[in-house]
Amino acid sequence: MKIGLAYDLKEAALFTPGCPEDALEEYDSPETVEAIATALETSGHSVVKLGGGREFIANILQNNIAFVFNISEGMGNHRSREAQVPAILEMLDIPYSGSDPQCLAICLDKPLTKRLVTATGIRTPRWQLVTDYRQLKEISLDGFPLPAFAKPAYEGSSKGIRLGSRAETVAQIAEVAAALLEHYKQPVMIEEFIAGDEVTVSVLGNSPAKVLGIMRVIAKKRSASFVYSLEVKREWEQLVDYECPALLETNILDEIAGSSLEIFKILGCRDFARLDFKLSPEGVPYFLEINPLAGLNPKSSDLVIMAYKLGWTYQALISAILNAALQRYPQCVKG
Ligand SMILES: Nc1ncnc2c1ncn2[C@@H]1O[C@H](COP(=O)(O)OP(=O)(O)O)[C@@H](O)[C@H]1O
Ligand SMILES: [Mg+2]
Repeated sequence: MKIGLAYDLKEAALFTPGCPEDALEEYDSPETVEAIATALETSGHSVVKLGGGREFIANILQNNIAFVFNISEGMGNHRSREAQVPAILEMLDIPYSGSDPQCLAICLDKPLTKRLVTATGIRTPRWQLVTDYRQLKEISLDGFPLPAFAKPAYEGSSKGIRLGSRAETVAQIAEVAAALLEHYKQPVMIEEFIAGDEVTVSVLGNSPAKVLGIMRVIAKKRSASFVYSLEVKREWEQLVDYECPALLETNILDEIAGSSLEIFKILGCRDFARLDFKLSPEGVPYFLEINPLAGLNPKSSDLVIMAYKLGWTYQALISAILNAALQRYPQCVKG
């Protein structure tokens, strides 16, 4: 089959002066694009690299593409940017991998996702949304549980998340939130800081979706104030160990797995996703966020590291995502 690959490269994106230095963090490297292309070709497909943005639009109109493998993050800092490419593909009636525009748009909006998830009774850290400076000055954070954590409402890849995102006092919360409002030009979410283990979960497939694995992210220098921040994600080889399967009690693992599948379902995710949880020091899981467009870098992405630790090859992982997607489109697989 002729498969188009939709992606946004760091080097193709424009770095606008005045933007935060992590502005391009979510975009992909040529290494990821090459690895996916090779995996698809090894499965017998021909691959057309479509790129992103205007280049993607030109390429998708010019080539006769049967199916798109989508890892595009989208343009701008709009909360629905991940929906851009799938929306164009739906308009052109071209099948594609991964979740649909509505799911992608919801999941990049952390507070909206949390509202939907809490409606099912799944635990998530207490939070307060601050939409602008004026509101930040007016709201009272007295009584908000401390320490707290402040993060941009519509980002991923730990953009805007540093070791200093954790605040010990109400004055510090206001300071961190004000800086985020200024630099990231979007609402800021203030959350109760959950101080125990960090866990990430991969889900694969549809009807039924299954948990591929649960991985614990362990700081080499153990600390209750650990944050899987931008600094840590950039230097992961020096700073963290990954434990998969996670060596946690069975009842905790069962709750995390059950919640993950329910969240995947209620948000309408498809094919694959990765979810982040923090555990309280007593081992109670709190849902942080879900990534329906989880990174697929062959070396550094958590989902891929998890798959390797469970004995998968990169090729097998990409094929599993592709096959999950193709099963949704019987017209692509017949004959
Ligand atoms: N409420 C919280 N309590 C403790 N740590 C948090 C909290 N929210 C985020 N973090 C830390 O910040 C990291 C990144 O936050 P996350 O919400 O997953 O954003 P991103 O979309 O950038 O991955 C988490 O993996 C975790 O280490
Ligand atoms: Mg995360």
